[in-house]
Amino acid sequence: MRFDGTRVVVTGAGRGFGRSLAIEFAGLGAEVFASARRFETAAETCGAIRDAGHRAHAFTCDLADADSIRDFAEAVADQTGTVDILVNNGAPYLEAGGFTEAEDEEIEAVVAAGATGTILATEHFLPLLERSSRADIVTVVSACGEYGHHRSRAHEAFYAAKSAQAGFTEILSKRLRPEGIRVLGLCPPDFENEDSPGTPGALRAASLVDTVLFAVSRPRDCFIKSIYFEQV
Ligand SMILES: NC(=O)c1ccc[n+]([C@@H]2O[C@H](COP(=O)([O-])OP(=O)(O)OC[C@H]3O[C@@H](n4cnc5c(N)ncnc54)[C@H](OP(=O)(O)O)[C@@H]3O)[C@@H](O)[C@H]2O)c1
Repeated sequence: MRFDGTRVVVTGAGRGFGRSLAIEFAGLGAEVFASARRFETAAETCGAIRDAGHRAHAFTCDLADADSIRDFAEAVADQTGTVDILVNNGAPYLEAGGFTEAEDEEIEAVVAAGATGTILATEHFLPLLERSSRADIVTVVSACGEYGHHRSRAHEAFYAAKSAQAGFTEILSKRLRPEGIRVLGLCPPDFENEDSPGTPGALRAASLVDTVLFAVSRPRDCFIKSIYFEQV
């Protein structure tokens, strides 16, 4: 499977899963537009991609800040008229530690970036996606966004943010279907990023990367809207 000529935007690409996905897309021929809260981390990811002979551009984007999201989309639009794949990956995690233990600011940040940030990023990139003949919007939700899920140690606010992402992708998938734009939400359980080696039997980031690549490389009559995983 190749992504030559495909323009892919990945948020939260400075580390973890976003970084792995950006590197993999670029290695398969995509031109990657990678953002992170700190420009240096996005630039580091893009440097690794370019060192391997592939194409990538670095941007700053704080998903908790509407202006930052708008600036990011405008900066990408200055470099390309079309985006083929938007990956809403960036989202802060918050450990439970008791519902009332978290600071108000932590709760605000988790919901703002995870829920509102995903919606705003999608809204601001939609005009670029609409110019593509093969548009996909991929959101890395979480098992915490699955109705009835309760196995994660995440804070209630993280569950709320991920449930918002799941609800958003569900309705957006239906509403963009007539335009031929596919909207996919993935609901993985805890998985092991390559920079945090792992629990035996746990889902690996590499397998999740493969799952995303599989979904977006399906023929255009195949609209996969949700992917769920069985936990160990
Ligand atoms: N790892 C898991 O077990 C797991 C399970 C299910 C779902 N997920 C989801 O998968 C995605 C990636 O997970 P991960 O393991 O790579 O997560 P992670 O290690 O917790 O990293 C979170 C990512 O989101 C970014 N981020 C956090 N707050 C942000 C903000 N305000 N604006 C922009 N970016 C922000 C971080 O960037 P900075 O470098 O700027 O902090 C980082 O790239 C997330 O959506 C996560 O919720 C992860």
